[in-house]
Amino acid sequence: MIINSKDLLKQAQNHAFAFPHFNFWDSNSIRADIAAAEKLQLPVILAWAQKHSSEIGIEDALMLGKFYGSKAKVPVVLHLDHGTDPELVKWGAKNGFSSVMIDESDKDFDENVRITKDVTKLAHSLGLSVEAEIGHVGDNNSEDHSKYTEVDAAKRFAKLTSVDSLAVSIGTSHGVYKAGTPQINFDRLQDLKSNVKIPLVLHGGSSSGDANLTKAAEFGITKVNIYTDLANTSLKAATEKKI
Ligand code: 13P
Ligand code: ZN
Repeated sequence: MIINSKDLLKQAQNHAFAFPHFNFWDSNSIRADIAAAEKLQLPVILAWAQKHSSEIGIEDALMLGKFYGSKAKVPVVLHLDHGTDPELVKWGAKNGFSSVMIDESDKDFDENVRITKDVTKLAHSLGLSVEAEIGHVGDNNSEDHSKYTEVDAAKRFAKLTSVDSLAVSIGTSHGVYKAGTPQINFDRLQDLKSNVKIPLVLHGGSSSGDANLTKAAEFGITKVNIYTDLANTSLKAATEKKI
């Protein structure tokens, strides 16, 4: 069954735990994610990211997501992740995603608000939940550096855009960490939680360490995004001919 993410994230917020968000890129990855969720009898958030368009296009991702998501024995959120093209996000919202992220976190505050508000209006009219990002979660393998989320900006952004959840930058980044686990700023997270009423989301979850992720959930994170660890594990298994 495919569901919206709004109630799930509110539930996580009220009970101080986090749901996993797994990116999928082919039928093996989506089937493995659903099999794991069914084994645990827990809901799961499955996501296609715009930056994975060269591996799998949006139409193919929707076809896989709708097919496997609707016959899953657990609730599945079909999420569009890191949508940087507002027209593509709107198209995805109209064509089967149950939740979307509009990511204009590389723009200035006003531009991020303007585009996010526009996409949110359309998505809400279709009954979808919307995630956006303020501050910026960067990438370990490029010059795309993280920019910490400012509490006041996050508070104003949530109010101005009416989004349902907010991705915040508190020390994680996308991809493989060069050394150890990331230094998460839990003081900032606590401050964000006290000032922002909507559920908070953590990107760059791979290899962040169980202790960090457990504490993040206890301190207000309601969803943890994971991609790199899944992709690397699949690659390793394929190389060793385990799949
Ligand atoms: P990782 O690839 O670091 O797990 O990050 C995933 C992510 O944030 C997807 O949006
Ligand atoms: Zn991300």
